[in-house]
Amino acid sequence: METTLAIVKPDGVKRGLIGEILKRYENKGLRLKAAKVIVPTLELLEKHYEEHKSKPYYKPLIQYMSSGPVFAMVLEGENAVKIVRLLNGATKVEEALPGTIRGDFASSTTFNIIHGSDSIESAKREIALWFPELA
Ligand code: CDP
Ligand code: MG
Repeated sequence: METTLAIVKPDGVKRGLIGEILKRYENKGLRLKAAKVIVPTLELLEKHYEEHKSKPYYKPLIQYMSSGPVFAMVLEGENAVKIVRLLNGATKVEEALPGTIRGDFASSTTFNIIHGSDSIESAKREIALWFPELA
């Protein structure tokens, strides 16, 4: 069975959207396998976003992600990776359709409420980073 990592980012936690977001994943049939509320360390975030290191948005992104508690979760289900990405919506704020988490709640491409792993390989790498205790 496929597993993926989703993270309610600090703005999503501050706005009280953890329950709303988890409900959407569960309604779609995904199962919650592990979850925690943490303030991620810079070390964890630098590893998590290492492919974005050269991007102009990298520094603000790391600052934003370390600005408060996040809700990290491991979700399991058939096609879990793709389904979470579909429910999350497009990265660019102007392309995130209504009915998706970003489409309904985000008004900025950087401060966009939710993260989802983009492939099965990324999911494995990210779950190992955020939930080493599951290994
Ligand atoms: O999160 P997702 O996989 O949809 O997008 P990404 O391209 O992997 O980018 C990671 C994160 O960087 C996004 O979720 C945004 O928070 C941020 N980002 C940004 O601030 N500006 C961009 N032009 C692209 C991404
Ligand atoms: Mg990504």
